[in-house]
Order: sequence, then structure tokens, then C-alpha cells
Amino acid sequence: MKQDESFKLADYQPETHALSLGYDPALSQGAVKPPAFLTSTFQFASAEDGKRFFELAYGLKEREQGEDPGLIYSRINNPNLQIFEERISAWDQTEKGSIFSSGMAAISTTFLSLLSPGDCLITTSPIYGGTHFLFENILPKFGITVHTVSAGDNTLDEIKTILPTIDQKSLKAFYIETPANPSNALVDIEEISNLAKELSEQRSSEDAKIITIVDNTFLGPVFQRPVKHGADLIIYSATKFIGGHSDIIAGVVTGTTVLIDSINVYRTIMGTMATPFTGWLLLRSLETLSVRMRRQAKSAKKLAKMLSEHPKVRQVNYPDLLEEGCKQFYTYKKQCSGPGSLIAFEIDGGEEEAFKVLNSFKICRLAVSLGGTESLVEHPMSMTHSDVPPELLEKYGVKPGVIRMSVGIEHESDIKKDLLQALDTI
Ligand SMILES: Cc1ncc(COP(=O)(O)O)c(C=O)c1O
Repeated sequence: MKQDESFKLADYQPETHALSLGYDPALSQGAVKPPAFLTSTFQFASAEDGKRFFELAYGLKEREQGEDPGLIYSRINNPNLQIFEERISAWDQTEKGSIFSSGMAAISTTFLSLLSPGDCLITTSPIYGGTHFLFENILPKFGITVHTVSAGDNTLDEIKTILPTIDQKSLKAFYIETPANPSNALVDIEEISNLAKELSEQRSSEDAKIITIVDNTFLGPVFQRPVKHGADLIIYSATKFIGGHSDIIAGVVTGTTVLIDSINVYRTIMGTMATPFTGWLLLRSLETLSVRMRRQAKSAKKLAKMLSEHPKVRQVNYPDLLEEGCKQFYTYKKQCSGPGSLIAFEIDGGEEEAFKVLNSFKICRLAVSLGGTESLVEHPMSMTHSDVPPELLEKYGVKPGVIRMSVGIEHESDIKKDLLQALDTI
């Protein structure tokens, strides 16, 4: 696709942008695909150029209309990272994107850059175990307090209950992981971002704005666009669906230019950016993201239904199985365009029976992570969420008999056969 004067981002769909946006073959010997720019540093055409590039990169001078910011050093910028960032932010319909060395690098760099000692944030729970650890053990060391409410039907009510107990000026962010890992509980993004706006309007300065941050790893960017519902920042573990082949660790944040630029200052200094080769691999992965996620969700829908009717399964948590009447059903219809491919199901039994099932799979791999081409199964209570106190997990329905499954692209009938034979062992 030619990006001449007539080019408009909004004229094309993200699937199309994923193949061409931000790359000019003429700058790389006509190569149809962006080459891997495996270089740590870039040669300046002149000392004046070097000086100017640093002025722009460090925000010492304003960029002129249409001026190229110039390449300096791969901890600051690199073509593979920049092309990927342009494509992923176009997909999220945000102004700017930033790529990180992991999902946790994205999350921790975001919080360390945007929050200061004395600030607090409100998070939903459950959330991914690593994020829980950051909130419980690391942010408090920097004087940042984290308040927790449950993800699901009562999120807004619980926030309204704890708000009077919090020093209002210190509240800087709402953090939502929806669907939640591992329970698949859904949070209404619009409801929370509206509350953030309402509370922000009662404050005097723009700095005091409360931001809404959404971890969109499970459904985005294909089945959920948080910005449409008022979110300010969208975070991903790109290790999952975006990478999609279980061969890289990476993270992403997208949002407004102002917020991403502030985060990028910390990324540059803390060195939490991704490598150029990771950027290159993610460019390749992004091309098939929509195809993979839709195929995985198609199989997951059938498998979740099969599990919900199985006599050895007590409970299946999967967005497509939500029933009319409960709040999350309406949240799902409003904010998601598909159910994704993560299924949490509780077998008839506790840890012993769950382990028996997990040890019996022949096709699905017993491994943590999710969103890859292969189906994965794991035991959240003793693996991904073992840092979270068991009583807290049980409160959110994550019991000892719960197995989390990430449905891959194997033939659906083979995954079904594998699930049935594994369940037959108990
Ligand atoms: C929802 C969610 N967010 C963030 C992360 C952290 O990502 P990473 O492992 O890429 O650091 C994970 C990892 O499993 C996750 O599931």
C-alpha cells in the first residue's frame, strides 16, 4: 500500500495495515518485508544531524512539521520497533504504541513512569500473578498503594464503597484486566473510565487526571478495543496472541502520545524495550494475528460448550457461555466482538484430580502461557497464580479443581478427543 499524500489511516482495516503500514520498501533495496535491523547504533550523516536527533529524542527542542526524528541507538529507537509500534497502535485505534521486552516490563515501566510516592491505584482482581506480585510487593516499596476490588458484576459498586476511604488526590489510575486471568471475569471498561472522568473533572489541574489502563492480553486487539470504551492506555503481554507462536517474550502499551512519550522516557533509561529481532518477529506475527485468533476462538467456542455439558465438569468460565440476565453478559455484548480462546473449567474434584487430568493430555501441552498456536493447559492455583493467596483465588472461583486451557490451531476434533480422554481418567 502506497503511503502518499492521499493515504488515510482510517481508509483501511488493521489486518491490511499489518502488512504494510510504516514501511517504505524503497528505503530497503525494494525488500517487500522489512529486513531485521540488527544493529545497536546508527551512523549519522553529519555531527549536526547527531546533535539534532538527540535534541528531538530527549525533548530538548520541538519537532518541526514533517521532520524525521532520526535513528540514534536501539535502546531509544529502531525501525523494527517503530514499524511494529505504528501497526499495533493503528489496530488499537490509539495515537501511539510502545514495545517492551515483556508484558511485565510494559506494566512495571508504565506504573513507575506515571505514578509517584504517595499515589495510589485501584485494580480489579483476579489478575495475572506477576502483576499481582508487582502490586503487592514492589510498588509499595516505592510508596505506591494498590487498592483491590473484584472483577465481575460488582466492580463499580465495590469501587464506590472504597472511594470514601481513599485520599482522593492520591488516586491516579484504575487498572483493569478484562477478561481476567484466569477466571475470565469481565469488567465494564466504559463504566470505569466514565467514573475516572467524573472524578477527574472534580480536580483542578490536567495533571490530576485519573487514567484508565486495560490489560487487553486475552482478547485484544482483535476482539476488544478498549479505547472505544474510554480507556487511556492499553497493555499487552505480546508473548501471548500477538507473538502467537510461543517463541518470544514481549510487551506492548498503546495510548495517547502524551502518555506514551512519558512512559518511553523510562523505557529508554530502564532499558525495558524489546530487541530489534523481537520487533521483527512480532511484525511477522501481526500479519496472521486476526486469522489465528478467529480460528482459535471458533474451536474454543465448541470445546467450551462440550465441557459445559460434560458430567465430570462442574463449571466452565468462558465469555460465550454467559447467560442473559447477568451483568457480565451485557458487558460482553457491548465491549467484545468475540469470546477468545481461553477456557477456565473446574473438574469434578480438587488438585489431585486436576493433576490427573493434566498429566493425561496427549496433544495439549502442560505448560503456562497462552495464545500460541499450540493448545496449552495448566493449573492456575499451583502455577501461574501460586503467588496469590489460595483464599483470595477461591473467592474469585479459582478453586483447586480449576484448569486453564488456551486453545490452539490444531484440528478441533483432535483437541476434543484429547480433552475427553483426559477427563476419562477421573
Ligand atoms: C494477562 C497478562 N498480563 C501480563 C502478563 C505478563 O506478560 P509477560 O509474561 O510477557 O511478561 C501475562 C502473562 O501471563 C498475562 O497473562
